[in-house]
Amino acid sequence: MTGLITMADLTNEDIVEVLDAAERLLPAARGETSMPLLSGRILGNLFFEPSTRTRMSFETAMKRLGGDVVNLGDVSTSSVVKGETLFDTIQMVDGYTDIIAMRHPRQGAARYAQDAARVPILNGGDGAGHHPTQTMLDLFTIRQAHGRLDGLDVVLAGDLRYGRTVHSLSHALARFDCRIVLASPELLRMPPEIVEDLRAGGASVTETTDLYGALDSADVVYMTRIQKERFADEDEYVKVAGAYKLHAKHLGEVRQDMIVMHPLPRVDEIHPSVDATRHARYFEQAFNGVVTRMALLCRLLGVDVPGGEA
Ligand code: NCD
Repeated sequence: MTGLITMADLTNEDIVEVLDAAERLLPAARGETSMPLLSGRILGNLFFEPSTRTRMSFETAMKRLGGDVVNLGDVSTSSVVKGETLFDTIQMVDGYTDIIAMRHPRQGAARYAQDAARVPILNGGDGAGHHPTQTMLDLFTIRQAHGRLDGLDVVLAGDLRYGRTVHSLSHALARFDCRIVLASPELLRMPPEIVEDLRAGGASVTETTDLYGALDSADVVYMTRIQKERFADEDEYVKVAGAYKLHAKHLGEVRQDMIVMHPLPRVDEIHPSVDATRHARYFEQAFNGVVTRMALLCRLLGVDVPGGEA
């Protein structure tokens, strides 16, 4: 069974279906009703890289649906330190579980894992590659705020080079005919092959270093952390650290319904003064990780979410 490795694994119709199912799951995600749709199923959480939100929201999602979770736990206490290959680890966990959520520092690792597994793999981030489940919660958050995904003006800002969230998100936004502004320091520009790919699909893409000049015409401003851990050279990191710091004082002329998003964790890209503005949406965004991952788990396990029949 195929999982979710990149956004290319979902059609636009699939995306809308998952978001609709996620909406129907909101009461269960909040713990207001019980929907044991996945009772008896087991999720394997394999996180070879640090994670708070992604790992915990997968776990919460599974448990809210009556399912169970087994964790790889701390990599330093698992057989990985004895030299076990990813292939062997996956083959073994495959036999213990019905579905696997995985994060790995190596780009392409999720695809490799899917080839080794019979159960579906949900890519929770592969190095500087992709992060499609994050994109689904980002799209959910955007649709919640604007009532639609199509034709929006979206600024993606910060580390577009190493940031996997924006690699996956830009792909999806382009497919929904959004106009995309890529705002980054020169050193952290979106990889040219991704920009070419977006443009080849007909998307309007503009690159700039001037984040602040792009704010006023945006429906969505998506900030990202500079991915310090992906730099080969600490000196290069120092050159771009703190490149953008969004402050409430920058939001005076923006659209009333513009939303500021961030996959979190933030370092200094968004000043706490933004938190109290009507534009801040990053904590709701993090909550939305539970409900969209519930919908994805159901979909990949072949379980219908009630209430969706026409
Ligand atoms: C992101 C990631 O891991 O790529 N975090 C997340 O999943 N919410 C963003 C980041 O680490 O900067």
